[in-house]
Amino acid sequence: MSLISAKDILEDANKKRYAVGAFNINNMEFLQAIFEAAQSENSPIIIAASEGAIKYAGAEMLVAMTRTLAQNSKLPVALHLDHGSNLNAVLIAIKAGFTSVMIDASHFPYEENLKITKQIVNICHPLGISVEAELGRLKGVEDNISVAERDAVLVNPTEAKDFVGSSGIDFLAPAIGTSHGAFKFKGEPKLDFERLKKVKELTGIPLVLHGASSVPEEASKKFEEFGGNLKGAKGVPFEVLKEAIKCGINKVNTDTDLRIAFLAKIRESVALDKSQIDPRKIFGPAKEYVVEVIKERMKVLGSSGRA
Ligand code: G3H
Ligand code: 13P
Ligand code: ZN
Repeated sequence: MSLISAKDILEDANKKRYAVGAFNINNMEFLQAIFEAAQSENSPIIIAASEGAIKYAGAEMLVAMTRTLAQNSKLPVALHLDHGSNLNAVLIAIKAGFTSVMIDASHFPYEENLKITKQIVNICHPLGISVEAELGRLKGVEDNISVAERDAVLVNPTEAKDFVGSSGIDFLAPAIGTSHGAFKFKGEPKLDFERLKKVKELTGIPLVLHGASSVPEEASKKFEEFGGNLKGAKGVPFEVLKEAIKCGINKVNTDTDLRIAFLAKIRESVALDKSQIDPRKIFGPAKEYVVEVIKERMKVLGSSGRA
């Protein structure tokens, strides 16, 4: 199939209350792993590429690889710019053939975020490209902080309603207590579900959970067994992800889990096969290990069997 917009994928997820994984690609093997898992689970997929990924591989190269794999499958696939920081980054992605973009102006004051986001929507929508924006800051929040501190960091549901109505975005990432990377929580992994439910009730559009990696136990153990250090790492448990999906999340962003799995297996292979000089013999098993992590997540998100 040709690449489609993420809106087309997420509308069904919103209607039927499941979530689709947006998996970040760091290299070709990640992309292959995502397709292999999706094929095996019969799941729709959103391929996410950050500005860092574009800098590493080139936007045209990422589009060409993703298009080729999508055209050789019957799966619904979108190619999405993750955390686009400005108009220029969005234009590079659009010009290369991305079918969806995120404009992340969440660090600006509300009015500025809205102004920048509107401009991106006006460019993307006539081209059939979907747009995601973010409200609030991605930051773990401790249990013992004050209501005022919490409100300063997390999404404001009333603002979310106004933002969605005024900008015309297709899906929204509301900050509800997650953060990027492997060290998300000092204490209990808790998200603000009440806030999330309110945002869903007031906007009705597909919602996105950033910083949604779970820090898989087996892969993390392997990472440490072969010399790595992930001390204190904590992700979003599967049960918490499922609850978030019940409350309205339809797109679950995952990068860290794939990174941990890929590098855990590389550490193992390099340590156990000391005379190996063929990189494919090292990267191949690492890719397969990533496939397993993705398949497990597709089951948890409920996207398996939805392609
Ligand atoms: O949300 C961030 C993603 O994990 C991408 O990270 O900017 O290092 O490619 P990156
Ligand atoms: P993780 O770091 O939890 O994988 O989050 C990735 C993400 O939000 C990409 O936008
Ligand atoms: Zn993110």
